[in-house]
Amino acid sequence: MNIHIQSEAEMVAFAQNIALDVRAGDCLALHGELGAGKSFLARAIMRALGVKDEALPSPTFAIIQEYDAAHGLRIAHMDWYRLESEHDVETLGIYEFFEAPWLTLIEWSERATALLPRNSQHIHIDIDLNHPEHRFVHINKKGNL
Ligand SMILES: Nc1ncnc2c1ncn2[C@@H]1O[C@H](COP(=O)(O)OP(=O)(O)OP(=O)(O)O)[C@@H](O)[C@H]1O
Ligand SMILES: [Mg+2]
Repeated sequence: MNIHIQSEAEMVAFAQNIALDVRAGDCLALHGELGAGKSFLARAIMRALGVKDEALPSPTFAIIQEYDAAHGLRIAHMDWYRLESEHDVETLGIYEFFEAPWLTLIEWSERATALLPRNSQHIHIDIDLNHPEHRFVHINKKGNL
C-alpha cells in the first residue's frame, strides 16, 4: 500500500491507523533516510497507543527506550543507527522484546536485518523533495514481506 502524506497531521492520522492494527509481540521496522520521519512516526504510534510520558526522547544514544502503553502493552523504541554489525545488535539482548507484552518499533533495522522477527511489518518513508512536509509511505501487509 502506498500513501502520499501531505503534513505532519496526516502522518499522525496514519500512525493512529497503524496503532489500531498492532498487538503485543509485533515488530514494526521503520525505514527511510535521516530526517524522513521514522522517529516522528514512532512517537505518534506510541501516543496513539497511550504512552503518556511527556518527552519521548530519540533512542539514537540509548539505542533502546522502553515505554508503558495502555492495556499492559509495553513498547521498545529502538534505533540501531550507531551499531555496526549483527553482533553489536545481538549483544543488546533484544530478543525478549520480540514477545508479548512488547511491541517493538525499530529504526535502522538495516544494520541487522537477519535479526528481525519473521513477522516484522515494514514501513518505508520517503521524503518528497518538492515539499518539506510531504512524504511517500509504503507499507507491506502483515505476513507478506
Ligand atoms: N509529514 C511529515 N511526517 C513526519 N515528519 C515530518 C513531516 N513533515 C515534516 N516532518 C519533520 O521531519 C522531521 C523528521 O525527523 P525524524 O527525527 O522523525 O527523522 P528520522 O527518520 O527518525 O531520522 P533519523 O534517521 O535521524 O533517526 C521532523 O523534524 C518532523 O517534524
Ligand atoms: Mg529517528
